Amino acid sequence: MKKTAMKLGAMKREQDPITFLTAYDYPSARMAEEAGIDAILVGDSLGNVVLGYDSTIPVTLDDMVYHTRAVARGAGATMIVADMPFLTYHTGASDTLRHAARLMQEGGAQAVKLEGGAEIADEVAACTRAGIPVLGHIGLTPQSVHQLGGYRVQGKSKAAIDRLVADAQALEEAGAFGIVIELMTDEAAKAVTAAVAIPTIGIGAGRHCDGQVLVYHDILQYASPYRAKKFVKTYADLGATIRTAIGEYVADVKSRAFPAEVHSFQGGETPAAGPSA
Ligand code: KIV
Ligand code: NA
Repeated sequence: MKKTAMKLGAMKREQDPITFLTAYDYPSARMAEEAGIDAILVGDSLGNVVLGYDSTIPVTLDDMVYHTRAVARGAGATMIVADMPFLTYHTGASDTLRHAARLMQEGGAQAVKLEGGAEIADEVAACTRAGIPVLGHIGLTPQSVHQLGGYRVQGKSKAAIDRLVADAQALEEAGAFGIVIELMTDEAAKAVTAAVAIPTIGIGAGRHCDGQVLVYHDILQYASPYRAKKFVKTYADLGATIRTAIGEYVADVKSRAFPAEVHSFQGGETPAAGPSA
């Protein structure tokens, strides 16, 4: 059954940990759904892990719509949240609403995610007034990496924790149904999670969150080369599996081991119809 924003709130109250994973295309979405994920985030991390940029800043709204549509085709029974990319929600409520609408109407998302705290509360409120569920995102906010001075752990002082708590409360008041809290100390995540009734979804934010989110390519080591991160637990090494498999294919063609007779058509045989996979 498709989880709703309300259902995720109930999971916090029931202390049932919420599972999010990113996905960017049809097969990743489909496998996440088949594996029983609670919700899928079409993250603008696709800029890094799928498009090969070195930050999320180059990702466009068209990129997000395109990938969200593919995810929606793969995971029709799962709640899909799509990231609003860089500078698509800072130029007024009407721009914000139009951009969020594209992710929902063209992309097929059921909710959007915006980075920021109190300073974007008006945009969050405009979305929720229009019936667009919003997931907040505070702590390390990658679209502001040049302002934050790098990918640094947040919430290291009492003052910093107080600011994170105030931002979380501002998002809750503006109507956000949950908040991603990224790369912050245990103490900060605990304080934020206790300060709001809506669920916190942590990434690099320790054990005191109401749920967790990780990047698809990170848990599967689906990258070349894969860079280990302290806050990620990996569950497979797809990068190595894929490189080895492709290498074997290349070697097979070179040695003429492939195609073999079993892969070849003889007269009178009916070839299998339909697209691959
Ligand atoms: O883009 C993304 O994948 C995200 C998660 C890291 C929360 O925003
Ligand atoms: Na993101």
